[in-house]
Amino acid sequence: MNRASHIGILALAVFAAAAFAAGPAFAIPPAASPAWAARHFKNTCSSCHGADGAHPIPLPGNPPPILAGQYEDYLVQALNEYRDGQRKNVIMAPQAKALTEAQVKALAAYISSLPGPLHTLPRPDFGH
Ligand code: HEC
Repeated sequence: MNRASHIGILALAVFAAAAFAAGPAFAIPPAASPAWAARHFKNTCSSCHGADGAHPIPLPGNPPPILAGQYEDYLVQALNEYRDGQRKNVIMAPQAKALTEAQVKALAAYISSLPGPLHTLPRPDFGH
């Protein structure tokens, strides 16, 4: 092995060490597991929607809705509408845009499983 190839190997080793230290070139979003969803709801969403999703804070002018027990597919739809801008809301848009598709699904499943006061109203009697 000559001097030039020694330098080449050394340069490669330094480069590999630097790349390793810098970590992956792109940020990998956290896995959207049920445990992640529960943690994310507690750490982020609960500050407005309540720890149980059923007792939101009375935000003047734009009260956050009750989420607990809402239909899962409705929650996915709502979050995706904030993500793609069909629903415009200065508070919820950044919350939803920070989520991946898989995280939206995991959060919707978690929130929907929370016992909530929402229920389907009995059909009204139209009298005919
Ligand atoms: C800073 C307060 C705040 C935080 C934090 C927050 N929300 Fe909201 N959320 C709101 C408000 C206010 C609305 C009503 C927005 C509107 O009028 O469209 C809302 C609406 C929603 C809706 C629509 C419900 C419906 O019935 O249509 C969903 C779903 C939702 N939030 C989920 C979440 C999730 C999941 C998180 C956490 C990732 C979160 N929110 C974090 C304040 C917040």
